[in-house]
Amino acid sequence: MDLYEYQAKQLFGSHGVPVTDGHVCVTPEEARSAAQAIAAPVVVKAQVKTGGRGKAGGVKLADSPDDAFAKAQGILGLDIKGHVVRRLLVTPATDIAEEYYVSFLLDRANRSFLAMASVEGGMDIEEVAATKPEALAKIRVDALDGVSPAKAREIVTAAKFPEAIAAPVADILVSLWDVMVGEDATLVEVNPLVLTPTGEVLALDGKVTLDGNAGYRHPHHADLVDREATDPIELRAQELDLNYVKLDGDVGIIGNGAGLVMSTLDVVAYAGEEFGGVRPANFLDIGGGASADVMANGLDIVLNDPDVQAVFVNVFGGITACDAVASGILQGLQVLEQRGVASTKPIVCRIDGNNAEEGRRILTEAHHPLIELVETMDDAARRVAELAAAAKAGK
Ligand SMILES: Nc1ncnc2c1ncn2[C@@H]1O[C@H](COP(=O)(O)OP(=O)(O)OP(=O)(O)O)[C@@H](O)[C@H]1O
Ligand SMILES: [Mg+2]
Repeated sequence: MDLYEYQAKQLFGSHGVPVTDGHVCVTPEEARSAAQAIAAPVVVKAQVKTGGRGKAGGVKLADSPDDAFAKAQGILGLDIKGHVVRRLLVTPATDIAEEYYVSFLLDRANRSFLAMASVEGGMDIEEVAATKPEALAKIRVDALDGVSPAKAREIVTAAKFPEAIAAPVADILVSLWDVMVGEDATLVEVNPLVLTPTGEVLALDGKVTLDGNAGYRHPHHADLVDREATDPIELRAQELDLNYVKLDGDVGIIGNGAGLVMSTLDVVAYAGEEFGGVRPANFLDIGGGASADVMANGLDIVLNDPDVQAVFVNVFGGITACDAVASGILQGLQVLEQRGVASTKPIVCRIDGNNAEEGRRILTEAHHPLIELVETMDDAARRVAELAAAAKAGK
């Protein structure tokens, strides 16, 4: 999960990285009050989970509360690379002598962590990396050794920070590593880390990506989720403990096993081309033990998606045999009826694997009005695409 700048800086602060105070605002009036409270020139900053905010006009200096109001008015609603600004951070304007760059990230290719640092920070670090790679120090960080004061010094030296600020920058690196490990982050980035004319070193911007797989170790990370910006169906799926991702097509997909579901998305998209570009509406992996309850929850989520015109249930029976899956589908539909979820959307089922024949017999003999059994994955994909296209055309 990517964090907003203000959230990243809150984490920084709690791990001892020096940051400036900030007020999160959602209206120009709030920005004016925040500037009044700060009682000094402020910077009004768009809070969006993408880079390049400054260049897009999302970071503005305001020298009075009324100016903060005006700048906030200009920034709220701005579209920055597809992210609409709904929140602002109002923070004291800092006098800047120099801008630096520091980050830690998980370096998957090298099965390690990487520290990056440059004294040429600021808005164009990507360009520095591309045109002057020697100005961006890259130092491997061993996961077990981490960043000791000595390691931090090594990074500071490699990036050629001025000796006068080597100590505070090294301290900040140790604290940032504490954020990385303590919060289970996969990225911690500060751009710019600034030197003020009075010799202070401060993090003026922050990017943090948290590892969702470690979420169970950090109950407070749940509070960092931006529920407004999360798809409501995805939120419900999370509550039901389902591996669900909303996509933009028309065919609801339910399968068991991430690999099978991924290939189901592919075959549906491929088959859908013949029917005017029908595409999958979601990824949903109900996992190995496709019990009736899990199947009911999966069907509930998918059938309640208004974009879904037809559903493809693609199951390969393994430890949970096909007869159990077939019963699960039927019971799942019953559970939905009991929940008062009436659906008229067709459901194409393909079941194969352990005890497939028995599973198919159960589904065939049930004569469920919505269920259509198709033998192969390709044929089922074609059929569901056809049904979805017909439903769309009928609307
Ligand atoms: N509190 C502040 N006081 C003075 N100047 C600031 C302050 N915050 C940001 N700036 C200036 O604005 C520039 C851009 O700010 P920031 O780094 O937060 O956004 P950005 O780099 O455009 O966004 P992103 O990091 O998302 O690409 C900084 O490099 C700095 O020069
Ligand atoms: Mg920045």
